[in-house]
Amino acid sequence: MIVNATRMLQAAKKGHYAVGHFNTNNLEWTKAILLTAQKLNSPVIIASSMGAAKYMGGYKVVANMIRGLDEALGITVPVAIHLDHGNYEAAKACIEAGFTSIMFDGSSLPFDENIAKTKELVALAHDKGLSIEAEVGAIGGTEDGITADGEVADPEECKVIASLGIDFLAAGIGNIHGIYPEGWSGLHFDALEKINQATDYIPLVLHGGTGIPDDQITHAIHDGISKINVNTDCQLVFAEATIEYCKAGKADPTAENSSKGYDPRKLLKPGFEAICKKVEEKIRLFGSADKANY
Ligand code: 13P
Repeated sequence: MIVNATRMLQAAKKGHYAVGHFNTNNLEWTKAILLTAQKLNSPVIIASSMGAAKYMGGYKVVANMIRGLDEALGITVPVAIHLDHGNYEAAKACIEAGFTSIMFDGSSLPFDENIAKTKELVALAHDKGLSIEAEVGAIGGTEDGITADGEVADPEECKVIASLGIDFLAAGIGNIHGIYPEGWSGLHFDALEKINQATDYIPLVLHGGTGIPDDQITHAIHDGISKINVNTDCQLVFAEATIEYCKAGKADPTAENSSKGYDPRKLLKPGFEAICKKVEEKIRLFGSADKANY
């Protein structure tokens, strides 16, 4: 069932669990996320970055693929189709392309411009029934080979952005996209509490869900995180399973007893199954299993 993400995240905030946001890259990814959410009776957010959407053929392709699979697989749990880290143009394009939720990431813009554009996109998104996430303070990550500790957002800036009518807010609390560096200082729970208070307990989003120790995830959910973004984790297990399959010679057409293991439906199956397993592990950790009827 395709929905926006507003109510599912309000229910998560109230019920002290988090909904998983899983980035998709293709059909296998999408199918794995949908089937696993259905199996666990969990709401789910399937997201595409601008780059992944370009790879797949554009925003309409992404929206139509998710909608098509949702219908064909008989998915009854709530599913939001979300743009991840969109710029202004991408956010506008996704509002028209059949997404049900957008993230406008104006965190690299001067604050006044972030405010103005977020405000405009809130009106456009809500007019069409979409939910909208905004961001304050960039989420850390590896750029040019340098990995810093994640940024921590200023509660006052969070307050201003939250007051614009957005549905959920990504605010850095020391989190980082991708693999965490050795010696990472961990999540800043004191900052999380200040942001919660400043934003009047709007649902908060934790980016960089890969590699955060389970006890910190549980703590963050307890303290008000309602949406957790996971991307790298699924990429890693997909790659690992595919490499293992190939190393075992199963894709080799010259191998003895070759059973056409190079057929993409066979070649991509271990990766698909690995994503199902990873998504299941995350949904159970986030506590959203059996929360489809919020
Ligand atoms: P990871 O790739 O670290 O899981 O982060 C995903 C993310 O935050 C997407 O917005």
